[in-house]
Amino acid sequence: MSKKIIKEAMKEKIKNDPWRLSYHLMPETGWLNDPNGAVQKDGVFHIYHQYVPEDATGGKTHWGHKTSTDLVHFTEEEIFLSPEMPFDQDGVYSGSAIVKDNQIHFFYTGNVKELDGEYIHYGRKQHTVHVVSDDGFNVLKREVVIHHDDYPEGFTTHIRDPKVFDKNGQYYMILGARKADNTGAMLTYQSTDLEKWEYIGNFIEGQEDEGFMFECPDFFETEETNVLIMSPQGIQPQGFQYQGQYQAGYLLGDVNWETVQFEAKTNFKELDRGFDFYAPQSFTDEEGNQILWGWMGMADSSPEFINPTVKNGWQHALTMPRVLTVESDKLKQRPHPAYEMLRRNEERGRTKVLNEPFSELTGEIYELKLTFLDKTNHFTMSLRQDTRITYKNGILTLSHGYSGFGRRKRQIQLDELNELRIFSDSSSIELFVNDGAYVMTSRVYPEKDSTQISFLADKKIRYEKWDLVMSK
Ligand code: FRU
Repeated sequence: MSKKIIKEAMKEKIKNDPWRLSYHLMPETGWLNDPNGAVQKDGVFHIYHQYVPEDATGGKTHWGHKTSTDLVHFTEEEIFLSPEMPFDQDGVYSGSAIVKDNQIHFFYTGNVKELDGEYIHYGRKQHTVHVVSDDGFNVLKREVVIHHDDYPEGFTTHIRDPKVFDKNGQYYMILGARKADNTGAMLTYQSTDLEKWEYIGNFIEGQEDEGFMFECPDFFETEETNVLIMSPQGIQPQGFQYQGQYQAGYLLGDVNWETVQFEAKTNFKELDRGFDFYAPQSFTDEEGNQILWGWMGMADSSPEFINPTVKNGWQHALTMPRVLTVESDKLKQRPHPAYEMLRRNEERGRTKVLNEPFSELTGEIYELKLTFLDKTNHFTMSLRQDTRITYKNGILTLSHGYSGFGRRKRQIQLDELNELRIFSDSSSIELFVNDGAYVMTSRVYPEKDSTQISFLADKKIRYEKWDLVMSK
């Protein structure tokens, strides 16, 4: 069957899927994973993503492409890059973008499998590829700038996901890696022209208990500090932390620009404490805001989590874009304010101290903001089909019943609960806690008409709710 026919058949199935999201980015058909190459140029936002259009279970990835001028309404564009070159025939893997002299420069990993079987130490090559484009659509140049065989000694074949940034008139590229001794690291390359790259050492090297592979590095500076984001594989759970199959989080610290090494001054902290969040990537918009998208999914989480949309011809999505700031040595993530343009049908009020659940609100696709006016010790909430949010004895819990399809419970130790901002979409929930101090993201697959919103608390709560309506 031709690819076109397969895609048309998938589109037919997708049409009837009640779990298609409303204000989140999804694959048009098939599979999506990491966000890639996020950039704004001449007012246009471009977001690319790992994409396999003809197979909802994954495969050789392309770069799908979506554009927007408001960061809320996106246009599905033609596929930007397909695995069609000898240096990326088994996947146009993840990477980043940077604007220089009015051109966008993309860097990605070209994945090539040479043998069947073991890919940790041999049988795979991961080249670093440079793409130049004037507008994010045309490919003016696409060539390998670091061949796999030229990576330094001491690493496995896992070296990928270039992030490029500039500093003091130099360009730097950091690459996620798995060392031969099964610890994670990031290689640093330096360039003056984005064409010729020289290996100058390792940006960071992990310890044994910090994971075996650092995927998807991301780096930016704020006035206060530097932020290094990554997705390590292999950190073991500790209490309520690191419960996911893999982790995605950040370190705050300083870069020694003499040695070009990152010196962390915090522990590794997760960016999201829910179930579905991995491989995030941030970019600086034309106004200087740092904006992050994550893959609203998790690698290798099957069979624990199931995504019932696979049978409908698609799987996975991106999170809402989040604005990142560092405030008093804490990274805050807030939903991008542009999404306020979707607010309709405002309902607001205050609850009294409740003996019975407050159930006057309902909804499926909405934003609900709860402000706790006094220090609450006990709060329970039910929404959608069987999702529960509770706060008791200093522990915030998000849990799902059947609609979580294997996602059960995630928890955060929290001294005080001041605010919950809940973003519900047809099959997702993003929970921003205490003005962006924590986020919990989860895919849920509720039955039709699962619209309950009901909560009970020992203290007064101010509520504001809006339906979020995407114009077609
Ligand atoms: C993270 C990741 C990246 C890789 C891409 C391939 O989810 O494994 O390291 O480039 O996905 O799709």
